[in-house]
Amino acid sequence: MRWWDIDPVLELEHELFPEDAWSAGMFWSELAHARGPGATRRYVVAEEPATGRIVGYAGLAAAGDLGDVQTIGVTRDHWGGGLGFELLTDLLKHATAFECSAVLLEVRVDNTRAQKLYERFGFEPIGFRRGYYQPGNIDALVMRLHVQEHGQEPGQEHGQETETD
Ligand SMILES: CC(C)(COP(=O)(O)OP(=O)(O)OC[C@H]1O[C@@H](n2cnc3c(N)ncnc32)[C@H](O)[C@@H]1OP(=O)(O)O)[C@@H](O)C(=O)NCCC(=O)NCCS
Repeated sequence: MRWWDIDPVLELEHELFPEDAWSAGMFWSELAHARGPGATRRYVVAEEPATGRIVGYAGLAAAGDLGDVQTIGVTRDHWGGGLGFELLTDLLKHATAFECSAVLLEVRVDNTRAQKLYERFGFEPIGFRRGYYQPGNIDALVMRLHVQEHGQEPGQEHGQETETD
């Protein structure tokens, strides 16, 4: 994601998160940390090849050895097509590059679609943040992935590895 993507990303942001959309300033501030040798952020967009339209975006922040999925969104007409999966795969590769040992995220307790996506990567629920989403006063489920486990294919969580000897 570059600064010239912010306007189209904001449009999508308002469609997907009408109650608590990020402002342009928030994206600008994140992108300020996304380039150069000291970068601590990874922001990515997905463009529809035929039109160049931005149909998805995602961002990760690293602080010390902890990564945090800041945002992820896909335009409704592309839901279920694997774009969310691709965006999250990109963020997790960068979490490894940032040398994160774990990645955290918050997700609305009622957002089962997103939770299922995260579970496919091996994210596990570790707690709640009460009233995290305002103004709706919706609780957040906090999920965590240990990054060293991310060499696995999705769906290959604990207990499903096959022994080789
Ligand atoms: C959550 C979100 C990012 C997921 O994006 P997506 O592009 O629909 O995600 P995917 O297509 O990769 O995966 C979603 C489902 O589609 C399925 N899917 C993936 N590829 C598919 C394909 N080629 N054909 C059919 N279904 C497919 C996946 O299996 C998955 O279902 P499952 O979790 O039941 O297995 C999207 O729904 C979204 O933007 N929601 C609103 C914003 C939001 O809630 N963001 C998260 C905030 S925490």
